[in-house]
Amino acid sequence: METVAERIAQLKKEKNAVILAHNYTLPEVQDLADFVGDSLGLSKKAAETDADIIVFCGVSFMGETAKILSPGKKVLLPEPEAKCAMAAMCSADQIRQARKMFPKAAVVAYVNTSADTKTEADYCCTSANALNVVKAVPEDEVIFVPDANLGRYVKKNCSKTVHLWSGFCPVHQCITCRQVEALKAMHPKAEVVAHPECRPDVLDMASFVGSTEAILNHCRDSEAEEFIVLTEMGMGHRLEKACPGKKFYFTEQSLCMTMKMISPESVLECLEKESNEVVLSEDAARKAYVPVKRMTDILG
Ligand code: 13P
Ligand code: SF4
Repeated sequence: METVAERIAQLKKEKNAVILAHNYTLPEVQDLADFVGDSLGLSKKAAETDADIIVFCGVSFMGETAKILSPGKKVLLPEPEAKCAMAAMCSADQIRQARKMFPKAAVVAYVNTSADTKTEADYCCTSANALNVVKAVPEDEVIFVPDANLGRYVKKNCSKTVHLWSGFCPVHQCITCRQVEALKAMHPKAEVVAHPECRPDVLDMASFVGSTEAILNHCRDSEAEEFIVLTEMGMGHRLEKACPGKKFYFTEQSLCMTMKMISPESVLECLEKESNEVVLSEDAARKAYVPVKRMTDILG
């Protein structure tokens, strides 16, 4: 009898499908994927692929971004209820209200927002390029939504006026300096690396701050042998594969549970039935494309 992985491989060929997975998904899901990466890398792959079907293993805003960039492709979500808690913290209507308070400011929306919210943004960014995007926008004043921690990190590293939102990622927000101190006491030689969704006091303890993919590249290239990694634990799988022999330590309970909803079985089912397709209205898809395209244009 065929295994789930074999059946998926066969269906992928028959249907000209590609499987994209975020760095936080389960190891067995990452191992099925054609490409595993951060939000920026996944968006690029979604835009480039010549596959007819994209199975997006990640939270729903990631599948929506793939659809915005590749409107002609069928984008399927194995678990459509796998949502990002932070993405629910800023609506299109709230942006319209904020613009009234700061009429000269450009709205820069972190990619962790819904397609509907993106329709009201001027520019989009990911954790990999937030600072470059904010520096590159012509306006000197920016409303940065929804992540206050990423917004603060950007604000600290550029000279623009950055109005912060009050959104946060529950996974990164829960990482405390006390937890980091405890890990440092246990692993005194370990280098501390962090995702910019962490709180500012935690980021101050890190020698490197970057997106999940930037963290991976840094750990691979660093001469250090041990790392305290301040982000979601799913990264452990990719880090261990990419850096054999190196050791990685995470804060306890740094788990994005919705990312873990996706399983090989749910990937197989959605590919078999072509179910849970991402559908955006023509108007939303057209408007949301503008800030996402501007982000890719800024990056060249
Ligand atoms: P990356 O784009 O760095 O992978 O981050 C996505 C995310 O949701 C982090 O919590
Ligand atoms: Fe959203 Fe946080 Fe999960 Fe990333 S880790 S997908 S920001 S809830």
